[in-house]
Amino acid sequence: MAIPLVNLQRNYQKYQDEYNRLLVATASSCQFVMGKALNEFEENFAKYLGVKYVVGVGSGTDALTLLLKAYGVKDKTVLTQNNTFIATALAIANAGGRIALCDIDEKTYQIDVDKYDGPVPEVVLPVHLYGYPYDISAIKRKFGAKTIIVEDACQAHGSVCQGAKCGSMGMGSGFSFYPGKNLGAFGDGGAVATNEEALAEEIRALRNWGGKVKYVHDREGGNSRLDTIQAAILDFKLKHLDEWNQARNQLAGQYRRLLSDCKAIVLPAEAPAGSFQNYHLFVIRLKDLNRDELLLKLNEAGIFAGIHYPVPVHKQKVYANMDFAAKSFPVSSKVASQIISLPMFPEMTENEVSTVCSTLLELLK
Ligand SMILES: Cc1ncc(COP(=O)(O)O)c(C=O)c1O
Repeated sequence: MAIPLVNLQRNYQKYQDEYNRLLVATASSCQFVMGKALNEFEENFAKYLGVKYVVGVGSGTDALTLLLKAYGVKDKTVLTQNNTFIATALAIANAGGRIALCDIDEKTYQIDVDKYDGPVPEVVLPVHLYGYPYDISAIKRKFGAKTIIVEDACQAHGSVCQGAKCGSMGMGSGFSFYPGKNLGAFGDGGAVATNEEALAEEIRALRNWGGKVKYVHDREGGNSRLDTIQAAILDFKLKHLDEWNQARNQLAGQYRRLLSDCKAIVLPAEAPAGSFQNYHLFVIRLKDLNRDELLLKLNEAGIFAGIHYPVPVHKQKVYANMDFAAKSFPVSSKVASQIISLPMFPEMTENEVSTVCSTLLELLK
């Protein structure tokens, strides 16, 4: 029995009557762009996060790009972590900012601003990587209370940091609704969350060719709306998000119990008391073994684990010529060669977690 990293079929099958009804209702309404379903989802997601405004856009990449553009990072330094998905760095570049990279904490795999000694950034863009609730107060301690913080919450739907939802703590945040995310659409989608009215207004204009009024364009924008059909699906899924995140949390607990005695593996750090991790990914690390060999053997045994991410940003060809302030990023470079993401999705069964663990432990013998 093969066990995929993520199985979307099970979720669809479980809720297919509701999904199909929503798809048909949107199609028959012929309201395909903007409209009531989008407004309702934006309001409900804002309420869920505890922020004033949510603006639906075409993807997580666009959410971060438009947020940075709306704030105005042109020619300014934006600091992010080296072990993120490339989209975080691309968003900075697409908004005209200068990418600065920071190494990470070896235990949590989150940005460690104390490891950065380059030019003071205008904006810091931490990523709640794997859904871990990164505490942004470390950024304020390092760079000052007024530092502008934009959260990459693309993996952190429903994660909580000391009582505050991830994506509600900074000046603004970007979410992705890519299908495999904890809150995933039936295609691409994303959203910006913020408490700043002017910023939300600006992003509403930027997603709509730079106009607030039809055929009146006072700035250069693009076309990046969250499709109405996606908003309808997401609004339904939002009602189940906490329950699905709890299911992931249970599975993570089972992984921990079954793997805790294995000396060859480093388990992921647990969120501190008072916080909650949505376990978008369950990432283990191999201390001294050949990760690629093990991954291959797992795949041969029908367990489709992954790597998030195998190549850190500073080693990507697209940024090969960048002169990053730090010349080397020892922790993120090492971690990238040791990590494995084990299968994780809310409908995964306890039996499947047991199979993954017994196969893994057998291969590690
Ligand atoms: C950390 C992170 N940032 C940004 C993105 C970009 O989101 P999207 O794929 O919706 O453009 C993703 C997801 O792909 C992500 O995981």
